[in-house]
Amino acid sequence: MDLMEYQAKELFAKHGVKTTLGVVVTTPEEARAAAEKIGPCVVKAQVKAGGRGKAGGVKLAKTADEAFEHATAILGMKIKGLTVNRVLVTPATPPEEEYYFSFLLDRANRQYLCIASVEGGVEIEEVAKTNPDAVKQIAVDPGTGVDESKARAIVDEAGFPAALRDQAVVMVQALWKVFEDEDATLVEVNPLARLEGDVLEALDGKVSLDDNAGFRHQDHAAFEITEETDPLEAKAKEKGLNYVKLDGEVGIIGNGAGLVMSTLDVVAYAGEKHGGVKPANFLDIGGGANAQVMADGLDVILGDDQVRAVFVNVFGGITACDEVANGIKGALEILGEHATKPLVVRLDGNNVEKGRAILQEMDHPLVTQVDTMDGAADRAAELAAK
Ligand SMILES: Nc1ncnc2c1ncn2[C@@H]1O[C@H](COP(=O)(O)OP(=O)(O)OP(=O)(O)O)[C@@H](O)[C@H]1O
Ligand SMILES: [Mg+2]
Repeated sequence: MDLMEYQAKELFAKHGVKTTLGVVVTTPEEARAAAEKIGPCVVKAQVKAGGRGKAGGVKLAKTADEAFEHATAILGMKIKGLTVNRVLVTPATPPEEEYYFSFLLDRANRQYLCIASVEGGVEIEEVAKTNPDAVKQIAVDPGTGVDESKARAIVDEAGFPAALRDQAVVMVQALWKVFEDEDATLVEVNPLARLEGDVLEALDGKVSLDDNAGFRHQDHAAFEITEETDPLEAKAKEKGLNYVKLDGEVGIIGNGAGLVMSTLDVVAYAGEKHGGVKPANFLDIGGGANAQVMADGLDVILGDDQVRAVFVNVFGGITACDEVANGIKGALEILGEHATKPLVVRLDGNNVEKGRAILQEMDHPLVTQVDTMDGAADRAAELAAK
């Protein structure tokens, strides 16, 4: 899960990283009220995308009225396709110098990596191209992590000014605590700024949390911003389904991530012959193809107004085809009138004959059986194109 800046800063504060929290608001009036308390401030778009400043999503306001105007302009704007629904109003603290700092997971080398640069913060990608020596990459051993002496080594390698050295050592250790204690895969500060009077502060924050470690962090669930997740994805998550919404017309249900991925390809290919229809989703029901799981899956997919036909593609392994066929039968009984769109079913593998016989006998008006994956994809695409 990627966090918004204001959420990242909450974790920073929790672990002793020097930062200013500010106030998160959703209306220009609230922005004005916040600015009246704060004084000169910066109004910052809260979206999960980089380049907010360049897109006009970060604006300095000297007065509360200016904060109102900036919030009016920024709220509702789109940055990299994402609508801005909230802004952070935070004290204006003009940086005298800007630095870049991050910890991240280095999968290729099976370790962590620290990237630091004292050459300007915002244009880090540019610096990396034109002056790569100014961007230091320092490996961090997962076994030993970042203690004080490692933090000193990082700070010296990065070349922080002498006046900031001690603050930087404290900051690096605190950022490491965010990274390690919160099970993050990325902790980035850009800019890490030198403010008036040689104060080092994180003016921005980006944190990605490892969802696989979510069970260790009950408090992370609160970071989920539900109104910004797709309602179908939220419903699927509630039911424990592995579902990703896509932009197409053919609903897909399969068992096993690999099979579902190739089903998407086959449907996209077949769709080209039928007016360009595309897969509407990814849904892997895994090994649990019983009636309830099948009904839950169908329920989510049929809730997608764009879907015109559904392709159920199952290869019976541990879960045999007759169980899946009974699952489909049971699901249609559970759904009753809610099942409104044609279903193309392709069964193969363990107990395929029994499975096909069950569906044949059921003789449901919405269900068509096709024996091959290509044939079934073609039929589903054809039905969706009608
Ligand atoms: N509190 C602040 N006071 C004064 N200036 C600020 C403050 N916060 C940010 N700035 C200035 O605005 C610039 C952009 O801010 P920030 O880093 O938060 O957004 P961004 O980098 O453009 O967005 P992103 O990180 O999404 O790419 C900073 O480099 C800094 O110069
Ligand atoms: Mg930034």
